[in-house]
Amino acid sequence: MKIIRTLVGACAAAWGTGLVGAWLQATEIELPPDTARFEVADLPGYSAALTHCMTCHSVEYTRSQPPSPRTYWKATVIKMQKTFGAPIPDADVESIVDYLAKTYGTERMKSETSAANQKS
Ligand code: HEC
Repeated sequence: MKIIRTLVGACAAAWGTGLVGAWLQATEIELPPDTARFEVADLPGYSAALTHCMTCHSVEYTRSQPPSPRTYWKATVIKMQKTFGAPIPDADVESIVDYLAKTYGTERMKSETSAANQKS
């Protein structure tokens, strides 16, 4: 009788472990948080930023900046290009600056307001 009880106990333990294992596997699926991506925008600079601004560091560098004017974003993009050697084609600089200023800069509020005005 004692042996049977031990066996039952072992089976229950194994079954329990299996369940815990399955549960762990199910909860291990990790999707990247939205903050790890550039904000989607209908601007040509959006895809250029995806191409050129994620190779060296995360989007957090950009997202964590306080809302700044276009001049700041222009200086930053040029700094990435000239000082840090980012291979950003000159032709893409203006569109990236435009996207950053409107998405993460002081122009964000303005463009949201004008979009709201256009709708009404
Ligand atoms: C060639 C690599 C490289 C690429 C590509 C790159 N960066 Fe950077 N970036 C850096 C380095 C290096 C720093 C400074 C890191 C530090 O100080 O720890 C930096 C810092 C930053 C910062 C923090 C503020 C500052 O001025 O230091 C921002 C914002 C930023 N990058 C935005 C961008 C944007 C926007 C793009 C795309 C146009 C971009 N980066 C592409 C290398 C790069």
